[in-house]
Amino acid sequence: MSKSADGWGSRVGLILAMAGNAVGLGNFLRFPVQAVQNGGGAFIIPYLVSFLLMGLPLLWVEWSMGRFGGKFGNHSTPFILDNITKKRLWKYFGVFGVFTNLGVISYYTYIESWTLAYVWYSVKGAFVGLDSTQVGAFFDTYVDVAGNEGLVNFPVVAFGFFLITLSINVWILSKGMSGGIEKAAKIAMPLLLVFGGFLAYRSFTIGSTGLCDTCSTYEGLSFLWTPQYDSLTDPKVWLAAAGQIFFTLSVGMGTIQCYTSYLSEKDDVALNAMSAGWMNEFVEIVLGASVVIPIAVGYLGIDWIKDPANANFMMAFKTMPTLFQNWGPTLGVIAGVAWFGLLFFAGITSSLAMGTPWMGFMKDEFNWSNNKSAITLGILVFLLALPPILFFGQGVFDEYDFWTGTVSLVIFAFVEVILYAWVFGIDNAWDEVTQGADIKVPIIYKYITKYITPLFIGWVLVSSFFKPVGGFGAVFSGEVPFRFAPDSVIGQMFHIGIEDSRWFIDGEIQSLFIIDMSRLVLLALFVGLCLMVKLASNRRKKMLN
Ligand code: PHE
Repeated sequence: MSKSADGWGSRVGLILAMAGNAVGLGNFLRFPVQAVQNGGGAFIIPYLVSFLLMGLPLLWVEWSMGRFGGKFGNHSTPFILDNITKKRLWKYFGVFGVFTNLGVISYYTYIESWTLAYVWYSVKGAFVGLDSTQVGAFFDTYVDVAGNEGLVNFPVVAFGFFLITLSINVWILSKGMSGGIEKAAKIAMPLLLVFGGFLAYRSFTIGSTGLCDTCSTYEGLSFLWTPQYDSLTDPKVWLAAAGQIFFTLSVGMGTIQCYTSYLSEKDDVALNAMSAGWMNEFVEIVLGASVVIPIAVGYLGIDWIKDPANANFMMAFKTMPTLFQNWGPTLGVIAGVAWFGLLFFAGITSSLAMGTPWMGFMKDEFNWSNNKSAITLGILVFLLALPPILFFGQGVFDEYDFWTGTVSLVIFAFVEVILYAWVFGIDNAWDEVTQGADIKVPIIYKYITKYITPLFIGWVLVSSFFKPVGGFGAVFSGEVPFRFAPDSVIGQMFHIGIEDSRWFIDGEIQSLFIIDMSRLVLLALFVGLCLMVKLASNRRKKMLN
């Protein structure tokens, strides 16, 4: 339980680091795709409501909870939760705050490494003259799924870029919070805004390209930004919006608590949390919505984007490089560098954050140095990333994203808000939020945090676990019988909807076997972390005696 000397250098640095934590691939790849898949403007109201009723309160909860735990020398959620209550079990819930990050970081850094590679390819002019089919094939070759009939993908170049990306992360992390993460954010965030500003400016000024009836960037922008009210009663849209809020704000992950555990008691959390949160929303709603979708609509039309086969996050790699070529050779290259550079900066400031809970835990409990905890993180992430890289074609990537990037953070957020607002007590929690505050937090948020936020998250949790085929509405009105939807958590767990769930057929390994093994890897990680918490807690007891 050594008190760490590490900390943040300045307030601006802290806000940039925190905004860097939140602003990530989620803002530029996940948000636009979620918005399109959920009806464009139909998505925006549930999204904003989720931000106000769930995102913002959770930011305050996590920021203040981390600062509180830091007072006792704790920098990761297992023992931050332990500080809040005397009951021994809660710290095992805190394991989520380390586990989720390790799970997400292993596929996230892989995508991050694609963006680095694509900066390089853009500079080299590798996409010049290629049509969209060829750019798509380029990507498939890059991740080694092109024409690969076997189970295993071995993408040599992609592996190389992955190792470079991981090493950069480890190197920065080994320099500590202010010497590493804060410095990186001070460089990356301004550049990201410049690159994003440039691309958004292009998309605002292109307008109609005349390539088809609806080929205008304005069509794309108005599709995303014209609020629509008809889907307000559709739980699917709400669920997607709430999920996006979690992912984009990095709440329910344990990284925010880790960052703020390095604050001092007197530091403000109320205003800082808002500043970082709103900065993320600006980057997401304004910049994130202004690049991929409008530009794609400008050249390919609104129907293209509405086709679910097209609007997925792969379009960033498979479609954008071709579209930039419409801007001429020089500007095309600049746009490619700006786009993939922006993604890289957005990605790395987030993956750095995901590395910190593990490091905080190992430093606190086992007195490890920064170097040692950064290097072991690198090794761990390398190993965990092997399944998604090698079995990319078998869907392991999505499997990781589902359990660690979608489900696990909601469970953790639910638990922490109950713990904070109900076990610790809303009065104590509110004192923590307002202590040292540079703004007056509206008192209504005390009640929102106590009642609305837990109910909201609880609803998200219950509906994602038990989502029925056809939706709850149809089930309650007796139109259809209750059956778990294949994409509900229960449905996923038991492979509902998959006709043939055998692991081997005629002695041949099936995808499902690979998927189940990758689940086992994640489960082993979770159990392993629980054991480490147990060990750490025994050590603490011994030290007290
Ligand atoms: N918020 C980041 C994004 O939008 C992702 C992230 C998740 C970062 C968890 C840190 C922790 O991409």
